[in-house]
Amino acid sequence: MRRASLAVLISLSLAGAAVAAGMTVKDEMKSVVEPGANTIFAVGGDVDPANGPDAAKVPATRWDEALKAAKALKGVAADLNGSQKKPGDEWTKAAADFAKLAADAETAAMKKDGGAFSKAANDLGDTCTACHSKYKAQTGD
Ligand code: HEC
Repeated sequence: MRRASLAVLISLSLAGAAVAAGMTVKDEMKSVVEPGANTIFAVGGDVDPANGPDAAKVPATRWDEALKAAKALKGVAADLNGSQKKPGDEWTKAAADFAKLAADAETAAMKKDGGAFSKAANDLGDTCTACHSKYKAQTGD
C-alpha cells in the first residue's frame, strides 16, 4: 500500500513538472513574450540616444524592469531553440536571433547602455515578424 501510493505521488509530481516545462508556444508568447517585449520596446525607445540627450536618464527601476524582461525572453529563447523547435531554416534563424538579441538586451540593461539596449530592442522586433510570417496563422493580430 505505502509503496503504491509513493509511486502515485512520484508520477504525479513528474506529470506536474512536464506540464510546466512543456508550455505551448502560444501560451508562452501570450504570457511571457508579449509583456516582456512590450517593456523592452518601450524602454528601448526611452533610452535611444537618437531621441535626445535625456533619453539615458530613465529611472533605475525602469532598467530593472528591462533587465527582468530580457531574462524572461532568454528563458523563452531556450524553449524556442529546444522543446518547441519547429523544422525549417526560418525558425532556426529567427529563434537563434531571438536568443542572441535577448542576451544582448540583458547585457545592455546590466550596463545601462542606452545605445546597445535600443539597438537590441529594435532588432528583436524584426525576429517576431520573421518567425510569425511563416509559422503563425495570419489572423491580423
Ligand atoms: C521562432 C519563432 C517565433 C519568434 C522569434 C517569435 N514568435 Fe511569437 N509566435 C510564434 C508562433 C509559432 C506563434 C503562434 C502560436 C500558436 O498560435 O499556436 C506565435 C504567436 C504569438 C502571439 C499570439 C499569441 C496568441 O495569444 O495567439 C504573440 C502576441 C506573439 N507571438 C508575440 C511575439 C513577439 C512580440 C515576438 C518578438 C519579440 C515573437 N512573438 C517572436 C513564434 C515566434
